[in-house]
Amino acid sequence: MATTESLPQSHRALVLKSPDQPLVVEVRPLPQLTSGSAIVRNLNVPLVSYSRDVWSGKRGVPMITPMVPGGTCVARVAAVGPDATSLKPGQLVYVHNFIASRDNPDELVLFGFTSGFSPGTQSMVAKEWRDATLAEYSKVPLENCIPLDETRLLGSPEQGGLGYTVDELAYLGFPLVAYGGLRDIDLKPGETIVIAPATGQFGGAAVQMALAMGAATIIAMGRNTQALQRVESLDPTRIKTLQMIGDWEKELEALKAFGPIDAFFDISPREAKDSSHYKSCISALRRNGRASLMGGLGDMTIPGFAMVFGNLQLKGRWMWDREHIAGFMRLVNSGQLKLGPRGGNEITGKFGLEQWDAAFDNAAEKARLGQMTLMIP
Ligand SMILES: NC(=O)c1ccc[n+]([C@@H]2O[C@H](COP(=O)([O-])OP(=O)(O)OC[C@H]3O[C@@H](n4cnc5c(N)ncnc54)[C@H](OP(=O)(O)O)[C@@H]3O)[C@@H](O)[C@H]2O)c1
Repeated sequence: MATTESLPQSHRALVLKSPDQPLVVEVRPLPQLTSGSAIVRNLNVPLVSYSRDVWSGKRGVPMITPMVPGGTCVARVAAVGPDATSLKPGQLVYVHNFIASRDNPDELVLFGFTSGFSPGTQSMVAKEWRDATLAEYSKVPLENCIPLDETRLLGSPEQGGLGYTVDELAYLGFPLVAYGGLRDIDLKPGETIVIAPATGQFGGAAVQMALAMGAATIIAMGRNTQALQRVESLDPTRIKTLQMIGDWEKELEALKAFGPIDAFFDISPREAKDSSHYKSCISALRRNGRASLMGGLGDMTIPGFAMVFGNLQLKGRWMWDREHIAGFMRLVNSGQLKLGPRGGNEITGKFGLEQWDAAFDNAAEKARLGQMTLMIP
């Protein structure tokens, strides 16, 4: 078990000096422990498909450089600030990347991704939360460390465990995102939900999450029929597929054939801004149906008649609320949300910090349901 005294003086970190320069691995002093924070030893960092676009500046999200990029990770607590009451050195945790300002919880930022859009988040990132998890060690907010029950999650099934590996646990962030939106629209056991697109990393995770939350029927939509087959194979009795064809009226007709649809969950990339599925899926909702929009969209057109005459509820969602985490972890610890190969997941590559370029390529190329590229700092 590490103590502050046994921590090394320095560590290796991947550094983004400027979005127009290649990243470099540097040896840096260890981050300094402060009140309200923990120093963690990062074990694995999953990449999203658009990692290169973010850190090359192509995606246009604000960043303050130099910075250590990163995101969520599984980690071991190495040291805790003096105000910690529960976390202990040696503990296995899932570090999430959604940092809230302590004096204004409405100021939120994605650690290692962006400095956010307000003077408050810019200041918080510049002064305190600039360096994230693509490093051997990181300083992270105490409240961003979700304790993991090692005995249950890593223990063998013969001894009552779920038998996961530490690397399989790195996947948690994908379904946790979907859980935020699905909780908003109160997806209930026995309901029918349409998820579109369902074939990417986050859309696929939404299908896994809806299964775990007890949806009776999940209509998975996407353009690519092969990718849809992969989604359906998770549970062919509960998952039905429908191809997006760019014709909202035909899609609506096909959706209606499934019977009343209670909910719609969208997590489209911005390239899908003009896709036919918004209109078909919203129009297919039953009266008083609910929709969660989580995609990285720009402005879009909403079918107003369907909204008004159907009494529909439309909810936007960025990530999740802190109070969602306990409910999410119950589904993980109970085994209802399945991880690893039995949940349909696959680690498509593991890369060291020096291999960031190959890792970013792998992440972009292999980003279907359950696929995960890991960087191992
Ligand atoms: N709100 C939040 O908190 C939150 C959190 C995380 C991510 N996001 C957003 O979620 C979006 C999706 O992320 P991701 O990693 O799952 O996927 P992604 O790699 O950004 O997108 C791939 C998915 O989008 C579909 N797609 C791509 N272009 C399309 C188009 N022109 N029309 C219709 N569908 C299209 C693909 O379906 P095909 O099978 O048809 O190729 C695939 O399902 C991102 O833009 C991200 O910003 C939001």
